Amino acid sequence: MTRRFGADDPRSLPIYDIAVRDPWVRPFDEALDATGDEAAWFAAVREALEAAYLATDDPFQQSGTSADAARWERNRRPIVEAIDRDGMMLDVGCANGLLMETLTAWAAERGFSIEPHGLDFSERIAALARLRYPERAERIKLGNSLSWRPQRRFDVVRTNLEFVPLPRYRAQIEHLLAHVVAPAGRLIVCSYGSGRRPAPRVEPVAEMLRAWGYDVAGEASATEPNGVVVTRVAWIDAATPRAG
Ligand SMILES: C[S@@+](CC[C@H](N)C(=O)[O-])C[C@H]1O[C@@H](n2cnc3c(N)ncnc32)[C@H](O)[C@@H]1O
Repeated sequence: MTRRFGADDPRSLPIYDIAVRDPWVRPFDEALDATGDEAAWFAAVREALEAAYLATDDPFQQSGTSADAARWERNRRPIVEAIDRDGMMLDVGCANGLLMETLTAWAAERGFSIEPHGLDFSERIAALARLRYPERAERIKLGNSLSWRPQRRFDVVRTNLEFVPLPRYRAQIEHLLAHVVAPAGRLIVCSYGSGRRPAPRVEPVAEMLRAWGYDVAGEASATEPNGVVVTRVAWIDAATPRAG
């Protein structure tokens, strides 16, 4: 039986190849398709991430990657190409806070002064970030990217699509633009993959955003030495989010 997905579900886009989906999350996707129980999807994903991130002292694994420092920089540095201003930055899904720290340093090299903030939907993982950066503890909040509303909006917000169930990808973008990114701010959307798996490994973020009608202000990517694209980044300016 061919399954039909809603217009906001990337599986209905010709450019979306389900091979990019991490194998460990697919059983949770199937359960959600069968039951519609979104709370169960978030709980299962949170439990799996906590088990992986909290089982180690390795700062890269605590941020969800098997990288070392050189690989982290190669695969994450393209994100800084989207930072073209001073201001408050929110890393949505901040894990142990490593990206907050490294992005701030990379932005400073480009002459931009960033005040990093973090959001995570796991209390236990957010606690890890507060422990690593006690001086920033107040800036690390607990909340879900699909619904969290800050008291003050951010000049730059970074997120990943896969933080929410597939049918809610577009809703997450809408929510962040409407309630989290400042009116003249920028939303940076990322997808990460592993160089060990065959391509395609990362979501075609820019094409997906364009397919949903957004005006992509810029894009960047990182490629492993084996030629596999492992990071894709695309950004939208809140002042001109729609194409045309
Ligand atoms: C791969 S790590 C990202 C680490 C770092 N921000 C980076 O981009 O490299 C994903 C983090 O996002 C958090 N997360 C996943 N879904 C989320 C959601 N819906 N709202 C907020 N945080 C979420 C997880 O708990 C985890 O700590």
